[in-house]
Amino acid sequence: MIVAAGKGERASQDIPKQYVPVAGKPMLRHSAQSLADHPMIDRIWIVIGDGQAETAKKAMSGIENYRLVTGGDTRQQSVSNGLAAITAGGGTDHILVHDAARPFLAASVIDRLLDALDAKPAAIPVLPTVDTTIRIENGLAAETLDRSGLWRVQTPQAFHFDKLVEVHQQTEKSADASDDAQLIRACGYDVAIVEGDDQLRKFTTRQDFADAALTTMIEIRTG
Ligand code: CTP
Ligand code: MG
Repeated sequence: MIVAAGKGERASQDIPKQYVPVAGKPMLRHSAQSLADHPMIDRIWIVIGDGQAETAKKAMSGIENYRLVTGGDTRQQSVSNGLAAITAGGGTDHILVHDAARPFLAASVIDRLLDALDAKPAAIPVLPTVDTTIRIENGLAAETLDRSGLWRVQTPQAFHFDKLVEVHQQTEKSADASDDAQLIRACGYDVAIVEGDDQLRKFTTRQDFADAALTTMIEIRTG
């Protein structure tokens, strides 16, 4: 499932960020292609904003075996809508939930996540925190945190489908969790960690698009 129903407010683009071209293609297209190309992925469900079906179909042209679902007001609600549609379509064993805002999805990350599901009901890609990280109190630096225990979490996140459905049903609809692994953990299930990928960074601000455009330009110039 790719969640692509956000408004992309922080990106300040003319259209929702998932449809803004990155390296020559709508951002959504990149991760959708990675999933379509992976031999273990049977079907892609894309959760889109109200009225965006034509835009999404255009971005997906040439990719087969996908379905569109309308999302909700929060990421959590969008995932819930996707899960309901997949359940109505007969369900599945395992699922990856991915942000459209993370275009560069390597097959190796998918492999690591799916392998981890043999032993645990959930798995997430993580990367170490590289900067010194502090807690701020009353506008002043209050405490330097022990970085060795702090990790950055990415998507896709992988789950046993029935467990993810269960925890979404048990979670308050208004909770607005920023990812799904925290719901799984809150319900007492283990979440395995696998190595993430710097390429999986999320596009959030206008600057993220400017950085990507610069990288593409450098790649073209250096061949
Ligand atoms: N998302 C979604 N439905 C929502 C909100 C977010 O499907 N109601 C998706 C986004 O499309 C994105 C992912 O969740 O792929 C991560 O969210 P984020 O980066 O916050 O994207 P936006 O919510 O679109 O951006 P912003 O918060 O800046 O408006
Ligand atoms: Mg958001």
